[in-house]
Amino acid sequence: MDITHVTHVKNVYPTKDGASVTIIDQTLLPLETKYIELESAEAMYEAIKLLRVRGAPAIGICAGFCMAALARQMTTDGEAFVADFERAADYLNSSRPTAVNLSWALKRMCALARSTADKPREERIAALDREAQAIQDEDIEMCRKISEYGLSLIKDGDGILTHCNAGPLATSRYGTALGPLFLGREKGMNFRVFSDETRPLLQGARLTSYELHNAGIDVTLICDNMASIVMKNGWVDACFVGCDRIAANGDAANKIGTSGVAILAKHYGIPFYVLGPTSTIDMSCPTGDRIEIELREPEEIAEKFYAQRMAPKGVKCYNPAFDVTDHSLISGIVTEHGVLRPPFDVALKKLFD
Ligand code: MRU
Repeated sequence: MDITHVTHVKNVYPTKDGASVTIIDQTLLPLETKYIELESAEAMYEAIKLLRVRGAPAIGICAGFCMAALARQMTTDGEAFVADFERAADYLNSSRPTAVNLSWALKRMCALARSTADKPREERIAALDREAQAIQDEDIEMCRKISEYGLSLIKDGDGILTHCNAGPLATSRYGTALGPLFLGREKGMNFRVFSDETRPLLQGARLTSYELHNAGIDVTLICDNMASIVMKNGWVDACFVGCDRIAANGDAANKIGTSGVAILAKHYGIPFYVLGPTSTIDMSCPTGDRIEIELREPEEIAEKFYAQRMAPKGVKCYNPAFDVTDHSLISGIVTEHGVLRPPFDVALKKLFD
């Protein structure tokens, strides 16, 4: 497969008249590539909640297009329009709590709705369309830069371990944690990538190994509990992971299991990098302790993806979707502005000042 088919995948886009949003249903990958159209607020909420669209930046991009589409269904103007718009934004925002890109994009759309509320309807909708498109275009640009900075941290032939999926499907183009690998591949470099399967929703098995394999990158799928032996064998030169929310002190929330990878990496002396756009940094959140961790249904652990239920009926399950990696375990945070090094509270403050 041509590598651009992977890096430039059209995962989220407004349908022609802008009244709905088209996404790849990521829950069906890799067996089926199916595009679905989201028209109602309920369908949009469901698509985010059930991870049909997933990955922090992609969720934010989708929310932007969704709000522009929903604005067309609103018959109000002025203050009443702003109230309707904010109500719809709050509803979408309640679909998933951890990735800050969702609330970040919704806040951006709400600010624009407020400033154009008194404009003629056509003009207001055109402005909302442009804002949603800008969110996506900026993400494309940010991912490209993150990919370049990330690539500067590794060399041809390196072994990279990644967790979850932070590729093009989760973003706009190239991705964040996987971006350097695609960019390097385009330049003729070869990497050996280890993809954690990422229990319980298997983003690593279903999406990361699919994207990398399709791009002709040497990828080996491992169960999450195999990361230690792979590191001990000396096969990993660096860990690259994405992020859902970075606090002001550098603590980084990402898919459940990420913090365990960081602890292992520290033990084996392997650099651990978090890659993400500045839209994932939440300077209003002082530390990772303040990040809300999404809890999901027990069925995801007990039965999903098994031919039959594998746990006793009624057994208690704890299913947090994310964990927070302590800033002390992170070697560098790669944003579109470069590679931040510890102390992250100082580096992040400087970036935002
Ligand atoms: O629950 P998901 O699949 O949306 O979680 C995704 C992750 O944790 C990703 O690593 C993160 O969003 C970064 S995507 C560039």
